[in-house]
Amino acid sequence: MLTPIDTAKFEQAERALPSIFRERAPDCGMILGSGWSRILASREALARVSYNDIPGLGTGSVAGHAGELLLFGQAGRRVAAFCGRRHWYEGAGWLPVVLPVELLRRLGARRLLLTNAAGGVNPSLGPGDLLLIRDHINTTGLNPLQGPVIPGWGPRFPDQSRVYAPGLAERLREGMAREGIPLREGIYAFTAGPCFETPAEIRAYAGWGVDAVGMSTVPEALLGNVMGMEVAAVSCITNRAAGIGGETLTHDEVLEATAAAEPRMRRLIEEFVAI
Ligand code: HPA
Repeated sequence: MLTPIDTAKFEQAERALPSIFRERAPDCGMILGSGWSRILASREALARVSYNDIPGLGTGSVAGHAGELLLFGQAGRRVAAFCGRRHWYEGAGWLPVVLPVELLRRLGARRLLLTNAAGGVNPSLGPGDLLLIRDHINTTGLNPLQGPVIPGWGPRFPDQSRVYAPGLAERLREGMAREGIPLREGIYAFTAGPCFETPAEIRAYAGWGVDAVGMSTVPEALLGNVMGMEVAAVSCITNRAAGIGGETLTHDEVLEATAAAEPRMRRLIEEFVAI
């Protein structure tokens, strides 16, 4: 059964942030998923807040999801980076999943970068490839906008024709091309998890034109979009999806593949901030 989001928690979470988040408010925000979240671990920051100190966010149980909010500066820009993602499949409802996006909205961030690890459905995608998400298919029937309309979260029936801002994607593509780093582009299918998919599911998704599959990102992307943010999302392909490579899939393999791709992932984050 759907439990409506307790929006009183939004205020509590906002109040828990140190005042520097308001004094030096972020221009852009990011939510970094599996493997990506450690990239900023040693970065000099204006502030660092543990997820445990943000009511409603808490710490997830997924390895590779650190659970720390950073505020940092780069070339005159300020960035609020949520290092570690909460997922629907953890069973804590929508609050921890949507709270980072809501906090970014309250702080006035205009651009949002979402990153994740994903399985390659398109056989030309292999471990370590970076894929810019052009559009998505929500296979789950789950949506954080289900329930009462929340002020600031768009109309009852939001348009979905441009969830991922084309201009932002273009700038990211250009920036990565200047660095000589290939950036693929494609369609991401969101599954509820926590199981990896079956080979039959992957064959079906391939028939729908899906390039990559994963268990996150779409809830935050559609929410950022209805809030009027420009959204970009990037997957690090960590494995061939079920039945394509023939191997058994494990989360350890996912983390290993992101470690190998780390220098390119780091570059992508810097390019995004510089846009
Ligand atoms: N399926 C779903 N989620 C994933 C995968 C996958 O193959 N790889 C990394 N995250």
